[in-house]
Amino acid sequence: MFRFLKPRGVKTGCFLLLLGTPLLFVWFLKNPGKTVVVQNMGEDSQVKTPKNNSYVRSWPSCQQNTSVQNITDLNTLPNNIQDFLYYRHCRHFPMLLDLPDKCGGPDKSAEVFLLLVVKTSPLNYDRREVLRKTWAKERLHNGVWIRRVFISGTSDSGFEKMRLNKLLELEHGEHSDILQWDIMDTFYNLTLKQMLFLEWMERNCPNVRFLLNGDDDVFANTDNMVEFLQSLQDNDGGKHLFIGHVIQNVGPIRESYSKYFIPVQVQESETYPPYCGGGGFLLSGYTASVIYNMSKSVSLLPIDDVYMGMCLAKAGLGPTSHIGVKTAGLYVPSSVLDRYDPCFFRDVLLVHRFLPAHLYLMWHQINDPNLKCSQKKRLQPHQIW
Ligand SMILES: *[C@@H]1O[C@H](CO)[C@@H](O)[C@H](O)[C@H]1NC(C)=O
Ligand SMILES: *[C@@H]1O[C@H](CO)[C@@H](O)[C@H](O)[C@H]1NC(C)=O
Ligand SMILES: *[C@@H]1O[C@H](CO)[C@@H](O)[C@H](O)[C@H]1NC(C)=O
Ligand SMILES: *[C@@H]1O[C@H](CO)[C@@H](O)[C@H](O)[C@H]1NC(C)=O
Ligand SMILES: *[C@@H]1O[C@H](CO)[C@@H](O)[C@H](O)[C@H]1NC(C)=O
Repeated sequence: MFRFLKPRGVKTGCFLLLLGTPLLFVWFLKNPGKTVVVQNMGEDSQVKTPKNNSYVRSWPSCQQNTSVQNITDLNTLPNNIQDFLYYRHCRHFPMLLDLPDKCGGPDKSAEVFLLLVVKTSPLNYDRREVLRKTWAKERLHNGVWIRRVFISGTSDSGFEKMRLNKLLELEHGEHSDILQWDIMDTFYNLTLKQMLFLEWMERNCPNVRFLLNGDDDVFANTDNMVEFLQSLQDNDGGKHLFIGHVIQNVGPIRESYSKYFIPVQVQESETYPPYCGGGGFLLSGYTASVIYNMSKSVSLLPIDDVYMGMCLAKAGLGPTSHIGVKTAGLYVPSSVLDRYDPCFFRDVLLVHRFLPAHLYLMWHQINDPNLKCSQKKRLQPHQIW
């Protein structure tokens, strides 16, 4: 997500990173997506399945922090912020849909080169369907495995919540690609969802090489990503890597009408550390583990991409910009050029905000072997911001 128009990240990195490295290993995963549907999730804290191969403990429900009622001017804050403060310390929630064998087990998880982790909400069925057929397709590319998980909470309440849970359960049964926690899938719970994912990863896929963490409405050129990551000479996922659209020199928005409102009661400091816009960023398995470890001692901030930056900063690390990541959208500076010309998208890594129909078409167009792009249709670095 892009939310600050003025300050923009420093851009480094190469624009075109398409050199494939020689095929070193061909990895095969057996049963990559054994699915588990957790039944009868109740209020109590008992393990519900005979087998202990899945994280199915239902956590005792987390209690409100009653001291929050004493926070200065609490009652002047919007309800969702008050709610956030009361439950800010809650980090454990039961899973409704799990995939403990997604990466072939913790030991074999090193065989997954790129794990696509896509934030989705139950209702976004059309987005998930198109991603499964396009950039998020599970496949072997250039000799390495790409795998996919959607991460979701629950939406709505009553019958509608049950219907939407049923939908995810159906999709999970068919595609083995949904992780769902029993949390409300709201904007201010995105950080929580992200951290629940990292905890899941630590348990089930700790040795995954790289991850793409992004929204379900982005266009990601995952073939280019694999080739870019393979071209890194000294990093096989075991070293720090966190790249995307870097946002820096910004701080909390104090206007209560903003979607991104963060009052002093949530964060006093006027600055955020550098972070990558949450529409999509690439990170190594090592960095995912560092962030998870640091998160245990960094209190939650409701804006997930900023929070990742805070955890990085705590570890003395930072994000790096890549010019091919356009979480603010791709700016094609002419009224006579088609802004959806596939030639503009062939070389990028990620562009934010695509409708499913545009995404489906674009993926097919950039993969068309007959696609001809003249030099003037290759985006030049100065044309992209
Ligand atoms: C089941 O798994 C949990 C979480 O990993 C662990 O704490 C617990 O000891 C396990 N129980 C059994 C019976 O293996
Ligand atoms: C709130 O503040 C009052 C007055 O200082 C104090 O007596 C009370 O214990 C506090 N409540 C909590 C839950 O901290
Ligand atoms: C409860 O809220 C108070 C006031 O914001 C805070 O100082 C304290 O650290 C919180 N406790 C926990 C367990 O998060
Ligand atoms: C986050 O999810 C929890 C669990 O469903 C819910 O109690 C809480 O109200 C949600 N918080 C926000 C800020 O939406
Ligand atoms: C994170 O913590 C775990 C458990 O303490 C440790 O095994 C792991 O090496 C840590 N990860 C990193 C990248 O330091």
